[in-house]
Formats: sequence, structure tokens, C-alpha cells
Amino acid sequence: MENQDSFVLHGNLIYTSDRNKFISLKDGYMVVEKGTITSVSAEKPAMADNLPVKDCQGKLIMPGFADMHLHAPQYIQIGMGMDYKLLDWLDGYTFQEEPKFADPDYARKIYPLFVDEMTACGTTSSAIFATIHPESTDILCDILAQKGVRAYVGKVNMDTNSAPALTEETAESLKATEDFIQKWQNHPLVRPIITPRFVPSVTAEMMTGLGQFAEKYQVPVQSHLSENPGEIELVKKLFPQDQYYMSVYDRFGLFGQTPTLMAHCIHLSDAEIAIMADKGVYAVHCPASNLNLASGLMPMRKMLNAGVKVVLGSDIGAGHTLYMPHEIVRAIEVSKIRSIENPEETPLKLSEAFYLATKAGGEFFGQTGSFEIGWSADFLITDVPEYQQERSVDEQLQNFIYHGTAQDIQEVYVQGRPVKNTRK
Ligand code: GUN
Ligand code: FE
Repeated sequence: MENQDSFVLHGNLIYTSDRNKFISLKDGYMVVEKGTITSVSAEKPAMADNLPVKDCQGKLIMPGFADMHLHAPQYIQIGMGMDYKLLDWLDGYTFQEEPKFADPDYARKIYPLFVDEMTACGTTSSAIFATIHPESTDILCDILAQKGVRAYVGKVNMDTNSAPALTEETAESLKATEDFIQKWQNHPLVRPIITPRFVPSVTAEMMTGLGQFAEKYQVPVQSHLSENPGEIELVKKLFPQDQYYMSVYDRFGLFGQTPTLMAHCIHLSDAEIAIMADKGVYAVHCPASNLNLASGLMPMRKMLNAGVKVVLGSDIGAGHTLYMPHEIVRAIEVSKIRSIENPEETPLKLSEAFYLATKAGGEFFGQTGSFEIGWSADFLITDVPEYQQERSVDEQLQNFIYHGTAQDIQEVYVQGRPVKNTRK
């Protein structure tokens, strides 16, 4: 049945079409035709009569998660070096690990493990940093494409201030990036994204070339912004003529000229927050990473109130989990910590954090992350314990987000096709 990508789901449906509230249907019906949602209703609609019914009564059906910032090669270093802050952690760990992906066989060994775990955690859309290595980056894309999940993947660019094994020759790096864009730009699920690591790792010449590719191929951009005070000082020293850290990206056409994801965005002035909102640049909040590297507490409420588009990311390996429900909880916890000292910054509600991890992130890819007519059938089916069956669907979801695990996720679908069936 699942291979036909047209069927009716019957179970406890829950999603957020706006961030202020959950929409839930106990024993509801969702019709999927050719991978697209065509109906969501409390009663079985007539249009469902000729379609097979997938009986998920007693289970939760929710949109798949969007992990909007993570580093695939850092899967192997999760939890290591967490006594460091950003710049020492990069030098001490990451820049020692990422050179290993110069060997395609190493990528063939590690990347399938990463992709399996990410999808088992219910992530159906992701924005991924690979490494500088073109061959390994292609291998990662192939694995994601075979798995059938959505992803933006970046071949990372680094041509200065990096470990020797991670320092590219500028022209060669640009050529490899253009080849990568051309190879993947028309894939239905796995797409290229321009990925300068962060301002300190790229020269003006590199950023000039990358900005030109963004425009020429109309591809999105991802990078890091204002994560750590030492990093911000370094950017000031390297580009003293630019008013803000973000002004550097902007000057080279890498800040909202095409859809742009900026990870962290912790230490921003009100003026910088206003620029992000104005340019429609996404801030990717990575709460686990920000706590692990003691980077700071991102002012989520302030950003949302200013109209910035905010989404969530695991940022492994600075973050330590690929399981987005835990990032949802951590985002709420960080907002509550901020609200203690800043009462005007009201804490995030669960519906808001869930929305950030589903629809807000999903929209970067198109129509995914919510259960609306015409949207892609990208969803999870999770087990609900016997002792929670009498609860409301909203309570079941609350319990799953705070107390569930990846083992509770029984099935994962993208475009109406199964990504993973653990308990068949
Ligand atoms: N800034 C530049 N590179 C990285 C990275 O790999 N992880 C994090 N958290 N920040 C970065
Ligand atoms: Fe990162």
C-alpha cells in the first residue's frame, strides 16, 4: 500500500498551521494522493472510498521535523571537546576530524550511519554542511537521495584561517562548488546550497565567487553568524570596513539575495535584528549547541517580535542530538531562562517551538511541515503508550515531545513514501 503513495491515514492527526495553536483531530482522516495531501477531516470523506486505508488508530500522526542546521561529518565527534568554546573547539576537534572525509571510503562508511540516525529521529527535511571535499559531499547527497528524504547539502568553502588540511585553493574550491551546484540543482529532493563556513574561513575573493553563483543559479545560502564573542571580534579585525558581521555576507550577495539560513544569531544588536527581518534572512536557533559551547542564549522572543524568520537546528557535533523533539524542548527552556531576567521576553509555547521545527523550517523547502491541502505528505507515525490512550491528542503530543524517543517513531514518510519502517 505504502508504495502507491495514495492512501488514507486514519489516526490522531496533529500539526500547527500557525505558531499559536495546535490543530488536532482524534481519529481523523488525511487523504494522500500521489504523495500530496488532498483532504484533512474528522469524518471519512467520500473521495477516500476507492483508496486503501492505513489504520493508525491510537497513534499520533504529525509532520516530519526540519533540522535546519547540522554538520554531517561531525556525527563522529558528538560530545567531544565540550569543555571548549567555539574557536578552540573548532581548532581542537572539528578541524582534526573533517580532513578524514578527504577519503571517500570514510564518507561511505560514516555518512550512511548519520543519515539512518537522522531519519530514524523523524527528520524529513534538513540543511546540511558536508566538508570541503567534493567527492564525499556527492556521496552524502547520493545516500540522502536513495533514502528519499529532503535536504539542502552544502560543499563547504574554506580558503583562509583554517587547518592546512582544510584550506582550499580559492579557484579550485569555486570550480568544485559550481560543478556541485550543476550536478544537484534539479534533483527533486536533494539540492545544493552555497556554504561558506563562516566569515573567518573565507576570503573576499571566495565570497565574491559564491555570491555570483547564488545569483546565477538562484540557489540558497547557509552559514554561521554571531555565535561567539571571540568570533565576532575576529570578523571585525578581518573586515574592519564593514559595519556589522552580517554586512560582510551582504556585501558579497550572501545575505538574503537568495533564501538564506544563518545559524545561531545570538549576539545581535536591535539594528542587526531589524536588518535580518527586513532581508527575510532565517535565523537558525541551535539551543543544544549554544549551551554546549557556552555561546549564549539566543533572544528568540525578541527575534520573533521583530519579524525575523526563526527555525531550529541540531548543529551536531556542537549539538549532541539529532532528535528534534529535544531541540524543541531546549528552545523552550532557553526562552524560559531568558524570561527570568527579561520578563518582556515571554517564553516560547510548545505550539510555537513545534511550529518552528515543522512548518517554519519546512517552508524553506516548499510546502512541507504542515497538514494542509496541496502540501507534501511528509509525516511521522508515533506510538502512544496504552496508559496515555485516554488523553487528548494535544496531551499525547506534549508527552511525546518531552518524554518520547526515536524508538517511538514507527514510520517516517516523505511524499507519501516510506523512509523507514522499524517495526514492520
Ligand atoms: N562556526 C564555523 N564553523 C562552525 C561549526 O562547525 N560549528 C559551529 N557550531 N560553529 C561554527
Ligand atoms: Fe554549525
